[in-house]
Amino acid sequence: MNVELGAAGTPPETVIDDLVAATAGGQLGSASGRFFAWVIGGALPSALAADWLASTWDVNATMYACGPAAAVTEEVAGEWVKDVLDLPCEASFAFTTGCQLAHVTCLAAARHAVLDRVGWDVERDGLVGAPAIRVLATDQRHGSIERALRFLGLGTRSLVPLATGSDGRLGVQALADALVAGDGPTIVILDAADLNIGACDPFAALIPMAQAAGAWVHIDGAFGLWARASREHRHLVEGVELADSWATDAHKWLNTPQDNGIAIVRDRAAHRAAMTLSAHYLIPGGDARDAIDWTPDWTRRARGYAIYAALRELGRDGLANMIDGCCRHACALARGIGELDGAELVAMPSLNQGLVRFLDLHGRTEADHDRHTDTVIAAINAEGTAFFSGTLWQGRRAMRISVVNWRTSEADVDATVLAVSRVLSDLTPAL
Ligand SMILES: Cc1ncc(COP(=O)(O)O)c(C=O)c1O
Repeated sequence: MNVELGAAGTPPETVIDDLVAATAGGQLGSASGRFFAWVIGGALPSALAADWLASTWDVNATMYACGPAAAVTEEVAGEWVKDVLDLPCEASFAFTTGCQLAHVTCLAAARHAVLDRVGWDVERDGLVGAPAIRVLATDQRHGSIERALRFLGLGTRSLVPLATGSDGRLGVQALADALVAGDGPTIVILDAADLNIGACDPFAALIPMAQAAGAWVHIDGAFGLWARASREHRHLVEGVELADSWATDAHKWLNTPQDNGIAIVRDRAAHRAAMTLSAHYLIPGGDARDAIDWTPDWTRRARGYAIYAALRELGRDGLANMIDGCCRHACALARGIGELDGAELVAMPSLNQGLVRFLDLHGRTEADHDRHTDTVIAAINAEGTAFFSGTLWQGRRAMRISVVNWRTSEADVDATVLAVSRVLSDLTPAL
């Protein structure tokens, strides 16, 4: 890898062969069906091929005039996404790099709207001297929320953390108290779902209450929003459609390759006001959709192809089956590992995220079990059959089980439980 960059070039085949050889052993294998760390997702065959096409055609998908086919495909894919997620058809959307930038896009629209309601034009006048915006978000929020607030000039001090219950969900009273504890422009951020146990807030009760208090409600639905596409799991996210904006990822539970996030905004005018741009050398699309009106990018990849392909390959039933299959496998993993000697089930997945923990047989304190849990996770990953990541849940270390890949099969689950059992036996000193 660390060869010197010479003055003379290298034939392209050699470059690629050398790159593959030099990176061997440095790939984590996150595309595999036995990768259960973080929330990474797999890539469906057609989505992967469509992504290659996006690179091959190398269109700058910033506006219709620059890539008509990319713009139209993106428009079709955006309508399909709203349709399968059963979100308002009049909402606007943007395909972004990921959920992080989808949050920025949605919260820029929120910032526009809540300040506009008090007579402040944030796009023209900025934030200096603007009425303060308070952001109410749960203590289970993802770090990308804080970062979006930093990017948008709201700062992390605008954030009021709201305590969730032992089930990881925000209670009605907690939100009611927070809403009356302050005033002025307010944004409320709810989770669908959190990355430890897949907890979804009780949207049907919380959203109308927040909106009645004049707040804009934004949803972090990086992966959990896809539960909308499943008949079996949809009840977990009932009422989420009432929100004002939703951020999610196609590269997570729709299984496109990386670099595919989705922002959806009910108030099209606010979304457009926050993002739109014109320049003398651009050619407006007229009736056609220009992505530059909706996304924070200028030059951008033609993301619509992969999203279009994944949805078309799966169809509604295939998508529902993939979601349900991942949830089933997550439960089987949690149950199978949780029943092993030396393991403890911490949270059975209600969706596709669960937690287990490993007990130090000679340990006395929680700190001993915490240390042992991290040791076991490292040993499982070193063994190589599967890959997991750790977390801190309610003050204790745990191993996360996250299933978001169409490739994961029952055979993968069985092989993984067997591998974890072997690792636990190897680590347990003979008594
Ligand atoms: C709940 C949640 N929100 C937001 C994000 C950020 O998504 P992205 O990495 O696509 O920007 C993640 C990433 O794992 C997540 O799990």
